[in-house]
Amino acid sequence: MSIASLASTTIRRLEGKVAVITGGASGLGECTARTFVKHGAKVLIADIKDELGKFVSKDIGPEFSSFVHCDVSKEKDVENAVNAAISHFGKLDIMFNNAGIIEHPKPDILDNETSDFERVLSVNLVGAFLGTKHAARVMKPARRGSIITTASICSVVGGIASHAYTSSKHGVVGLMRNAAVELGQYGIRVNCVSPYGVATPLAKDFFKLDDVHGIYANLKGAILEPEDVAGAALYLGSDESKYVSGLNLILDGGFTITNSGFSMPGISESSAH
Ligand SMILES: NC(=O)c1ccc[n+]([C@@H]2O[C@H](COP(=O)([O-])OP(=O)(O)OC[C@H]3O[C@@H](n4cnc5c(N)ncnc54)[C@H](O)[C@@H]3O)[C@@H](O)[C@H]2O)c1
Repeated sequence: MSIASLASTTIRRLEGKVAVITGGASGLGECTARTFVKHGAKVLIADIKDELGKFVSKDIGPEFSSFVHCDVSKEKDVENAVNAAISHFGKLDIMFNNAGIIEHPKPDILDNETSDFERVLSVNLVGAFLGTKHAARVMKPARRGSIITTASICSVVGGIASHAYTSSKHGVVGLMRNAAVELGQYGIRVNCVSPYGVATPLAKDFFKLDDVHGIYANLKGAILEPEDVAGAALYLGSDESKYVSGLNLILDGGFTITNSGFSMPGISESSAH
């Protein structure tokens, strides 16, 4: 079934909206691009993977989607991506700062190179800053808009990923909160979505596993999928969340509020699995 005919059978929660999705060529960004279009949006995919990005955009349909090369760590590229959304689709309603990279943690901080730390920060944090800045540039005069950044459970807990990744994800939540305070006066909402592990190329490479959920999950009987993250972005991009701003929406089945070192009476191994 084509996206167009699928769209006609669903309630379209983003009818008439235009979105830029960074990191939209793969994983969570790609899934969100397809979900947004299914719900009536036009989507500009901005990524460094040109072949993949063009393929995804073409597969979605050129009337609904376009691709632009964009390295989110470069201001000119981000500025250009936002301008491309305006020239292709006439406006910008949703900015999804989703592009991100991860690296394998080196357990000893003394082995961590400054250049590696800066490389991760330049994509994950500076990229989100540039996306927020250039979205605000066009959303302020329009006096509306929704800016969403993909953070992570590493935005609220330590010890899961590298110092750089954890710092970058804590950082985007700080940026989101500051921007939400500043941009509220213009009717612009700013939020984060923070997933637990999802089996995307990034996570499979990081965990060296296909099952990134593994034994650590708190919530049993469900697995976090890209569609769940896309659904959270859909909610934050749509008017259903019209009074939601400054939120870090954590999709982790309760993982980050769980103290795995402490067992409540009544929660046995057998009832937990
Ligand atoms: N998959 C998970 O388990 C998980 C969990 C929490 C948070 N996240 C976050 O979700 C986001 C998406 O990750 P994913 O799992 O879909 O990974 P992914 O590797 O499948 O997709 C990431 C995309 O970002 C693009 N990208 C990388 N560097 C870029 C740059 N400089 N400029 C533009 N695009 C760039 C890549 O080309 C790729 O298409 C990231 O911010 C990641 O940190 C992922």
